Amino acid sequence: MANIGFKYQHTPFRYISRWKDGKWDDGALTEDNVLHINESSPALHYAQQCFEGLKAYRTKDDKIQLFRPDENSKRLNRSCERVLMPHVPYEKFIDACEQVVLANEELVPAYGNNDTFYLRPFVIGVGENIGVQSAKEFLFVVFGLPVGSYFAEGLKPVDFCTTEYDRAAPMGTGMAKVGGNYAASFYPKKMAKESGFVECIYLDPMTHTKIEEVGAANFFGITQDDKFITPFSYSILPSITKYSLLYLAEHYLGLEVEERDCLIDNLPEFKEAGACGTAAVITPIRNIAHKDWVHTFDSGDVVGPVTQKLFDTLVGIQFGDVEAPEGWIHIIKE
Ligand SMILES: Cc1ncc(COP(=O)(O)O)c(C=O)c1O
Repeated sequence: MANIGFKYQHTPFRYISRWKDGKWDDGALTEDNVLHINESSPALHYAQQCFEGLKAYRTKDDKIQLFRPDENSKRLNRSCERVLMPHVPYEKFIDACEQVVLANEELVPAYGNNDTFYLRPFVIGVGENIGVQSAKEFLFVVFGLPVGSYFAEGLKPVDFCTTEYDRAAPMGTGMAKVGGNYAASFYPKKMAKESGFVECIYLDPMTHTKIEEVGAANFFGITQDDKFITPFSYSILPSITKYSLLYLAEHYLGLEVEERDCLIDNLPEFKEAGACGTAAVITPIRNIAHKDWVHTFDSGDVVGPVTQKLFDTLVGIQFGDVEAPEGWIHIIKE
């Protein structure tokens, strides 16, 4: 079946709510997919905004469910704090997601092809403003659209290169999902693509010796003795997929797990490696090019067995085929 890909399409309904005079209004669905905001809105000039990404899954028995939306809600609120915007209470966040999924229900893809309905919640600072300061009004919007695989290749090992650019500073905004981090990544990504790689790998901004992010995804490696390793730093976005895989590696696959530095000069310690995130789930890594050196992981052109098991377990849970840890699944439609 054709891959519906990961691209914008207009869907009938989205949710919008305004924060004004210290509180959110009730919010409502709208058919209008164009935002009407003041030209001086701080979101446009000073990147006072943040966003989330999560998916709704249709199960074999035709339920529709979300995967760990409480974690997206918490991260949205941490991002809001970092750029001085008001929290969106969990009840409001989940209500908005549910309304958007149900209003567009016929566009939630059928079970069986790993296609999903992607939700994009975001908060932006709006209203009249010209100085470098916080907005006084905010919009919380959730829209959604059906998506297939993020990478055209699907679950196929691909090649990455390191970049000399940084995506985030040590005490900057790397841990928050704010738009400025992504604008700064477009140029290094273009350079990587022009050199034949799918994306670039960001190293730690202080020493440029440790792996941080793989484009807009987290990194994990499987060591020669079967440990699941993933780096921790304050400039890495804490990926919900990554922490889910870490839990599954330990509790479902019985592997030892560790959050610790992954040195770019010590890649042969890993027999398999991957990038992970909501959009692509897992992207296995074949090669990493760093300076004038190319490292090929032992798994090479095929998906390594541990990576495959992690993928199958996670996707199985998301689509309701594998029993989930308690609290991971939020059912929208029985
Ligand atoms: C920079 C960055 N890293 C990692 C991730 C993966 O996070 P998650 O698994 O929560 O989607 C994302 C996507 O949200 C991201 O934008």
